[in-house]
Amino acid sequence: MNKSGRIIFMTLLLLSLLITCQSQKKYENKEKKYILLENNDPHSFSNPQFVRVYNMHLDLNINWKNKTLEGKVGLKMIKSKDNDTLILDTRELVIEQVKDGDGKILEHWLGKTDSIFGTALYIPTKGKDSVIVHYKTVPGSEALQWLTPEQTNDKEEEFLYSQSQAILARSWVPCQDAPAVKFTYSAEIKTKKDFLALMSATNPKEINPDGYYTFEQDQPISSYLLAIASGKIAYRSLGPDCGIYAETGMLDKAAWEFADMQKMIDEAGKLYGKYMWKQYDVLVLPPSFPFGGMENPRLTFATPTVITGDRSQVALIAHELAHSWSGNLVTNSTWNDFWLNEGFTSYFEQRIMEKLYGKPYEQMRQVLAWNDLQNTIEEMNMDNLTEDTKLKLDLSGRDPDDGLTDVAYDKGRFFLCHLEDVVGRENWDEFLKNYFKSHAFGSMDTEGFLEYLNNELLNRNEQWKKAAQANAWIYGAGMPEGAKKPVSTELTRVDSLVEACFSKDLKPYEMDTTGFTTHHWQYFIRQFSKKAGSLQVIRMEKAFHFSLRSNSEINCDWFVTTIKAGLKINRIQIENFLTTVGRRKFLMPIYEELIKTKEGKEWARSVFEKAKSGYHSVSRNSVEHLLYRS
Ligand code: BES
Ligand code: ZN
Repeated sequence: MNKSGRIIFMTLLLLSLLITCQSQKKYENKEKKYILLENNDPHSFSNPQFVRVYNMHLDLNINWKNKTLEGKVGLKMIKSKDNDTLILDTRELVIEQVKDGDGKILEHWLGKTDSIFGTALYIPTKGKDSVIVHYKTVPGSEALQWLTPEQTNDKEEEFLYSQSQAILARSWVPCQDAPAVKFTYSAEIKTKKDFLALMSATNPKEINPDGYYTFEQDQPISSYLLAIASGKIAYRSLGPDCGIYAETGMLDKAAWEFADMQKMIDEAGKLYGKYMWKQYDVLVLPPSFPFGGMENPRLTFATPTVITGDRSQVALIAHELAHSWSGNLVTNSTWNDFWLNEGFTSYFEQRIMEKLYGKPYEQMRQVLAWNDLQNTIEEMNMDNLTEDTKLKLDLSGRDPDDGLTDVAYDKGRFFLCHLEDVVGRENWDEFLKNYFKSHAFGSMDTEGFLEYLNNELLNRNEQWKKAAQANAWIYGAGMPEGAKKPVSTELTRVDSLVEACFSKDLKPYEMDTTGFTTHHWQYFIRQFSKKAGSLQVIRMEKAFHFSLRSNSEINCDWFVTTIKAGLKINRIQIENFLTTVGRRKFLMPIYEELIKTKEGKEWARSVFEKAKSGYHSVSRNSVEHLLYRS
């Protein structure tokens, strides 16, 4: 190389070094920003203001015989000073050893166990910036459910899945289990031969016969979004970047039900910015899954009870997909700000649904939600839970599950609908799009949102600011005065029908139900149920066979109606439902109605004893509490 060549070469080398250093610095600065996180999470022992985990590597063997996960987790961390102690959340984990990257054993100790929050694990980190925790789970790990073949859809092979939200990740991974702490992760998972393993990360589409899989999640996520599942699972693509995983027998039905998935992703992106997580898949779980859906990044977990054969419950996909922005991208700082996750998501879900299926469809769902919310607020007031009818919650010392009510979802959503009304859709959409963009991969608390809302939107116009009533919505109990009740002409028609059933003793065969969809029926049953006597209920069952429908929304509402009317005509169907479905949203109202009579309570307990081994701990604990301790 001649002299000028050498100069050019050296300049290029220097330049590239400089660029590398710069980007490294940018990354480090970004990481360091989080060090100064205030430790205001009342549900985690961790201390991210001093030591913060920013990357995790899981190496786990799924031990099907013992029903345990066994292996280790490597944690990389940033510290404010060298002799800080890393504090992790654990719950009933067996901690075997803690080592550094060179295999040297490190000191560690466990704190006192709390029945809600578990046990803190302390690891002094002097001279280290990573640790490896060797551990295993216990067979009863709260997050995990190990299903026998009989408890699955296909009834052929066993199945494992996790549910980490809100604070159960700590029962299968020692971690800083606080939503404001975000980290990237990778994993190596060994499962049974011919089984698939899936996580909230890059996923395999085909079975590896030796049961070994690797995963990568290179976008930072919160611990409650850690997820794992394994079983005899197959994949079906539904679009360029989306598809479904399910047991083979479910695949066709699920593919038909969720045919609009790609359209939903496209519309969501048009509304509030590009989908950031590359792939969007849905895993349809066996019926014991305790929730409707769970927004695990890249891989929503879903209950099979939404596969109804009429596509009436696809809002669930819109909802979990919407969490890819509200929740997974911009995350509630603590569970006290849960409405920022669920209220925003319910609003976004509504907008996706409106775009795909039109306003009248969404108006029906809004009216149903409004009525449910009114009932919830009324019941909460009666139970001395008025404080929990505020959007901003105070859940300190309590299980964050206590915040999982219609208030976060629907009061939150109606607040955002109200803001849209005040400022107009165009301004509102632009604001929301910027909100997601400017806070992506970070977290947000209620105060931060309020400040952003005022600065970026409401302060532009005095009238907006006044009409928004933001403080009343957020910090006031119940619904603020002037909250606008949604109207649905479709459902007004149903009101007249219900009215005629009582005032004119209209018989079922005289009812004009042409064009009725599942939502019309849901509304009909709920309104009818308020006044119906046992004879009217029997007549309705004979005409429409609601107990025999294969739609669990209708089943659930109808079971409650028949129990309320003091009937036992469908006990076989109710027992069958309670022993196969584990979705808590359905179980609770049925059990709650049953225990209102002495006979009902005894029967409910006997059914629960048969059913409980098939419930995930989330549902089992709630029902058990209801039947034996309340
Ligand atoms: N993230 C929630 C489920 C959740 C919340 C689990 C809090 C544990 C603690 C999920 O996105 C959700 O809201 N699911 C709903 C679906 C519905 C609103 C369409 C459910 O499970 O019913
Ligand atoms: Zn949700």
